[in-house]
Parts: sequence; C-alpha cells; structure tokens
Amino acid sequence: MTHAVPPPLPAPTEIIQFPLDVDINAVVNDIVHDWAESPVLQTGNADEIQANLPKNLPRGGAPMSRVLAEIKSVAGAYRRRNAHPGFFGYVASPGLPTDPLGHAMTAALNQNVVGYPGSPGAAVTERTLIEWFRQLCDFPVGTDGVLLSGGSLANLAALAAALYDTVGEAAVRDGLVAEGHRVPIILAAESVHFSVQRAATVLGIGQNQVRSIAVDDKFRMDSNALEQTLTAAQDRDELPFCVVASAGATTTGAVDPIEAIADLCTRFGIWLHVDAAYGGAGLLATGLRPLFAGIERADSVSMDLHKWFYLAFDGSVLLYRNPDAARRVFFSQSDYVQFDQHGPAEEHMFFHLGPELSRRFRALPAYLAFRYYGADRLGHQVQYNADCVHYLAALIEAEPDLELVSPAVLSICCFRFAPVSMRADTASIDTLNRRIRNALQESGEFFLSPTDIHNRPVLRVCAISHTTQARHMEQLIEFVLASGRELL
Ligand SMILES: Cc1ncc(COP(=O)(O)O)c(C=O)c1O
Repeated sequence: MTHAVPPPLPAPTEIIQFPLDVDINAVVNDIVHDWAESPVLQTGNADEIQANLPKNLPRGGAPMSRVLAEIKSVAGAYRRRNAHPGFFGYVASPGLPTDPLGHAMTAALNQNVVGYPGSPGAAVTERTLIEWFRQLCDFPVGTDGVLLSGGSLANLAALAAALYDTVGEAAVRDGLVAEGHRVPIILAAESVHFSVQRAATVLGIGQNQVRSIAVDDKFRMDSNALEQTLTAAQDRDELPFCVVASAGATTTGAVDPIEAIADLCTRFGIWLHVDAAYGGAGLLATGLRPLFAGIERADSVSMDLHKWFYLAFDGSVLLYRNPDAARRVFFSQSDYVQFDQHGPAEEHMFFHLGPELSRRFRALPAYLAFRYYGADRLGHQVQYNADCVHYLAALIEAEPDLELVSPAVLSICCFRFAPVSMRADTASIDTLNRRIRNALQESGEFFLSPTDIHNRPVLRVCAISHTTQARHMEQLIEFVLASGRELL
C-alpha cells in the first residue's frame, strides 16, 4: 500500500525574524538616566496604572513605539529606583552600568544552562565564576557550586544538602520517616533571615524546628547560647543538622562570630551554612574582610549577586565544600536526561547541585562586571559604602537629638530621632519615627524600609548603591532632624 505524498506546506505569511528595528541603547539610557531627578519610589493606584495596559489578550500586534510607551507609562513611571543615591531600604542592588548589556546578551544567546552538553560556553563561564567565588571565600579546591535565583533558593538548597547529608541517603528516596523519630532541627540566630524558616517549611521539617539562638548586644549570634542549645539537643530527641550563621544580618548588618561557630560545628559534627546573601561582597573590601574570619571553614556559603555585588536581579552564588552532599539530593536522571553523577567536565550538570533545571545564563552579567571593573574596584566601592555608613553613625552620635540603635556594621546602621527630654516617652518617640520615615519617603529623596528592633521602629539605613556618597548621609541627617523637629 502506498501513502499519498502530502502537498508542500507553504511558508507562513508572517515570519518572526531578527533584527528588531529599535535602538536598544536609547531605550536603556532613557531608563537609567533619570534616577537623580525622580522620586526614589513612585507608586500609584493599581487601577489607574492598569488603565495604561490592554486587559484583553492582544490578538494583533502593535507598533513598537506604542508598546514602549505603554511600558514607560507603567513600569517606567511607577517604580522604585534602587540606584537612587537616597535609596536606603531593604537590601536591593542598584544594578551596574554593565547590566543592560549583560542581560541583553544573555537573552540574545538564550542558553538553557542545565549543564555543559547543551551550553558548553555558558557552562564554562558559570564554572569560572564559581571558581572566582571559591577563591573569594578561601574554600578548598574541589568546592563546587551553582548560581540560583536568590538567597532564598540558595538557603533552601544548602539546607536540603545539610539535611540529607545528616539523615542519610535513604531519606532521599523514602522521606524523613526513614530516619525514625528524631526531629531534625536548624540552629540560627534570632535575627536570621526568614527564608530559613520558609526553607524549613518546604523541607517538611516545619518552621518551629528552626531554633532561635540569642544574640549579643551587637546583634551577633551568642556562641555560648549556641553551645548550650547544641548540648541540650543531645539529651532530647533532636537531630541538629545545620547551623546557619549570618554574614551579615538583614536588619543590622551584624556578622555572626563565624570562627567560634565553626569550632562548635566541628565539635558537634554539624553542617555550617553561612548566609552571606547580603554581606558577601564585604569579602572584596580589605577593611571588612576580617569580619568574615572562619567563612573558609563553612560547608556552604550563599552570596547574592543582586545585593551588595551591585548586580541587577537576579542571581545568588551557592558554594558547597563537599558537592557530593548536594549531588546526593539533587542528582536525578530521566528518560531524556541521563548523565553520570561524576562525569567529566563535558557532562557537568548544574541541576545536580540545586533544585532548578532550566536556567538562563545568569553568569554572564556577573562575568562582564567582574572582568570589566575588576574585583578590586568593586571592593573599593563596597568599602566606600561601608565608610559612608560609619560616617553616618558618627554624625548620629554627635547629635544629641539622635540615638544610634545599632552600630554601623558592613553598610547598615539603625537610629532614631529621640530628643533627650523625650526619651522616656517611648510611645511618642515610636510614632514620631514612623512619621519621619513616611516623610522621608514622601519627599522622594529618600527611602527607608520599615524595620523594628526589639519591637520598636527604627530608621534603618542600608547603603549599597554605587551612587551614594557621604553628602547624602549629611542630607539624610539634616532631613531627619528638620522633619522630627517640625513634627514635634
Ligand atoms: C541575609 C539574607 N538572606 C537571604 C535573603 C533572601 O534573599 P532573596 O531575596 O534573594 O531570596 C535575604 C534578603 O534580603 C537576606 O538579607
């Protein structure tokens, strides 16, 4: 029996093809060049913003000029300018001038960096970046790592590796029931980032299994309290599987005493994860590096590129001292992906080291920035941010109407407007400081995110923009004093 030959399929009438007739450089410059004159945060009514976008699925295309105008009137107009010199909120990177180029190239290359075979050049680039970060942390040869989307995912992956390394490989197949009735617990300072509790939920051990360790008067984990908790855990049905040390803490910048914590982890045989999502860039600055002593002894370290490394979102470097521990959790094969756990470099698989499979070429913007600026220049910038915040703390201490609540550490410090005659009236001081924070934001010149320390509001400054200078610290103090006195 013969089969009829199908008629030829005609070419489609509308073909999508390169190049796009638009000046990408002009679009980018339009976006990045207005931060100094515009408010730090421009927000608005959601319905009003929505009115600028078509709500119905656009069946037909529109001219690029119109599409760009829509985007400009929504995402361009209503945004927080993280590169504004007065943006001191959260821990959000400003993005580097190299980023639009790096991200455009990432999109143009459009690599799916699952592993080497499908994207050899991208894989080697990412592994080069991992090697640079290994050197930055003084980790041993044999370390491996992976770029993930952010600190939350990096903490999750590290905790997964630590958990299964402790409970044993059988649990990877059979679940935690295989371990019996000992309750796996994580130990971390009370100030640890809440992504650790979220990871505990996802790992199925429960948020309440993150044991809070007290902090000292400088907001660092109290290693004596850690020792007591570890000792007590031995007498209970508990299985401590990871200590998370912060370098530095999101609220205060405090860097936990990593060396002392590493000693305890060695003694008790527990995985040490250092969450350096915010502070990791401090390793680049000679003046800050001593704070991180002991980081080279950790089992895993996470460092967000999109925090103090200044890079545009998103990316986090996760290093494992013993990558096999991660492979035991994340290694998998399927009918269409079959690579060895310990194959040659040409079979390297990033998804054996973390939960993501498809991933964009995250290493490229970071590679571009490190090669173009060099680690030392980035480090000088990091040091300058820290110097600015130390200068701010000195200005605060010199002003009787201000109270320094947490000292300048890395590039964070927290303070309050608190005239001496009013200090006992904490309720009024708290209200006043909330209103000052709102006034700062309404001015469009500054942005501080809401933060409480010991359940009382503070003015928290986190300076991680390459646009911020010492004069912005002086202006902030002037504004706070003027605003506080006026509100009184
Ligand atoms: C210390 C620390 N760890 C983890 C995270 C979570 O990082 P991401 O927002 O990239 O998931 C943050 C975020 O601010 C952080 O400050």
